[in-house]
Amino acid sequence: MPSTARSARRKAGIGSLPPLYRAATEWGGYEIHYADAFEWLRNATPNSIHAVVTDPPYGLVEYTKKELTKLRKGKGGVWRIPPSFDGCRRKPLPRFTVLTEDDKSNLQSFFREFAHALLPVLVPGAHVFIATNPLVSHSVYGPFLEAGFEKRGEIIRVVQTLRGGDRPKNAETEFAHISVMPRSCWEPWGLFRKPCQGRVQDNLRRWKTGGLRRISEAEPFKDIILASPARGAEKAIAPHPSLKPQAFLRQLVLAALPLGAGVILDPFMGSGSTIAAAHACGLRSVGIETDADYFAMAENSIPLLAQLEV
Ligand SMILES: C[S@@+](CC[C@H](N)C(=O)[O-])C[C@H]1O[C@@H](n2cnc3c(N)ncnc32)[C@H](O)[C@@H]1O
Repeated sequence: MPSTARSARRKAGIGSLPPLYRAATEWGGYEIHYADAFEWLRNATPNSIHAVVTDPPYGLVEYTKKELTKLRKGKGGVWRIPPSFDGCRRKPLPRFTVLTEDDKSNLQSFFREFAHALLPVLVPGAHVFIATNPLVSHSVYGPFLEAGFEKRGEIIRVVQTLRGGDRPKNAETEFAHISVMPRSCWEPWGLFRKPCQGRVQDNLRRWKTGGLRRISEAEPFKDIILASPARGAEKAIAPHPSLKPQAFLRQLVLAALPLGAGVILDPFMGSGSTIAAAHACGLRSVGIETDADYFAMAENSIPLLAQLEV
């Protein structure tokens, strides 16, 4: 797609962006849709998706149009804009602590609606890898179980974040030896599965899903993965505030399609990092993004991220 056509569409705003961009390649081919995930799921063909690897919007308010406009103007809103050091500006961070009781209840409703919309679109035995964080993971897992998914474990991404570990606000000196909460050093990814039809072996034959691809013949897929934040070239290609690293996502997408057959969905694709990971691994995928700027970012980023050696 010529970049001039792309930038013209972007300038013209939401309505003129293409609803669908289909990559021409067969090997690791992908589709990305500029759409609302819930609407897309409601119209999707039942039993058409074989796995989900996604990082949904937490805080929910962060990714509303109002808050994204504030972020892009450098005003912050619910986004925490860290102070600059030596003229070097650090990236804005989501501020989860702003969640009120209403926000928490909205979060549960969001995941309830998501889990219910997703279940029929998945083939039996499809796995769902869903990024979360230690403070709100229960608000995701409960609705997934209620909707009929099986919990199959949790992937622990070992990563040092900037969240937690702080002293009591405005009493830092008085309570110099106190952390209000632990500094988070891991990111949980819920692992769910739509129930299989029959035994795992039956499901693998019929639907190509039900298990996870092993790392090697001798080594099963494991639930602890060390993965630093996306940096350098990845951040330069895809400056999304919640960018996930290719080194990590490629391990998930490989595990998610055990026989390498079928389609992976990322309904909240952001800059398209999951789609790029699938493309790099020769797996088919579909991505959905509702924000025009991030959709445009994904169009550019996917082929570039997929080419990176990690
Ligand atoms: C946490 S970010 C994902 C970022 C992604 N991990 C990456 O590496 O770029 C969540 C994304 O979901 C998008 N989003 C929020 N609500 C959505 C919806 N209803 N449908 C589709 N996308 C949505 C946001 O605009 C945001 O880009």
